[in-house]
Amino acid sequence: MIIAIDGPAGSGKSTAAKGLAERLGFTYLDSGAMYRAFTWKVSSSGADFSDKEGLCRLLDETSIRIECSAGGSEVFVDDVNVTREIRHPSITENIHHVSSLDFVRKKMVELQRDFARGKDIIAEGRDMCSVVFPDADKKIYMDADVKERAKRRYSELRAFNDEGSIDNVVEDIVRRDHRDSTRQFAPLKREPDALYLDTTSLEAEDVVDILTKEIEKEQQKD
Ligand code: DC
Repeated sequence: MIIAIDGPAGSGKSTAAKGLAERLGFTYLDSGAMYRAFTWKVSSSGADFSDKEGLCRLLDETSIRIECSAGGSEVFVDDVNVTREIRHPSITENIHHVSSLDFVRKKMVELQRDFARGKDIIAEGRDMCSVVFPDADKKIYMDADVKERAKRRYSELRAFNDEGSIDNVVEDIVRRDHRDSTRQFAPLKREPDALYLDTTSLEAEDVVDILTKEIEKEQQKD
């Protein structure tokens, strides 16, 4: 069974996907981690984000492996564990350079489908419902008020001792939303057949409860 979850940054989809995977015994697929992994490779190899041909060659010679369990995911680039490094704000800042490229997206989609083959999956990202798993058993679109999303993101940033203010985080989120939803290839969008869930005033546990019930309804149809 495939459950696809999309939504903007801070909508709570990673927490929900991990919680659901744990509760239902499914495997968690963090697709954003793959885009982060290649961004890390570009940065750490000193390549130029604006050199598309160079990035295409670099992608060909890069191995990205993700090991996801119910509890989270570990990400390896050329067998180096980069799980923590890919969460750094500098990666988040540069990721749009690679996530907007069609050849990068094509490779990531292949990796994501290969990863999911034969498994019960909770996959989260921006194009899980629209592109990667258009035939998913259940599609979910999560959203929340931008101030609430910024608050959530702000607490994550503190883990990196990032000094930014909450206003800066709001601006950053608005900029990322715009980039993610207006890019040419696989933009973030709400699919008409996706269940819409606004998590602004919900606790993480409530979200998992609501979605578990929805998925169980789907399982009963089988
Ligand atoms: O979910 P996240 O914050 O780790 O995602 C980081 C970035 O990766 C986000 O700005 C958009 C991009 N992304 C994407 O383009 N497609 C996906 N399926 C997942 C993430």
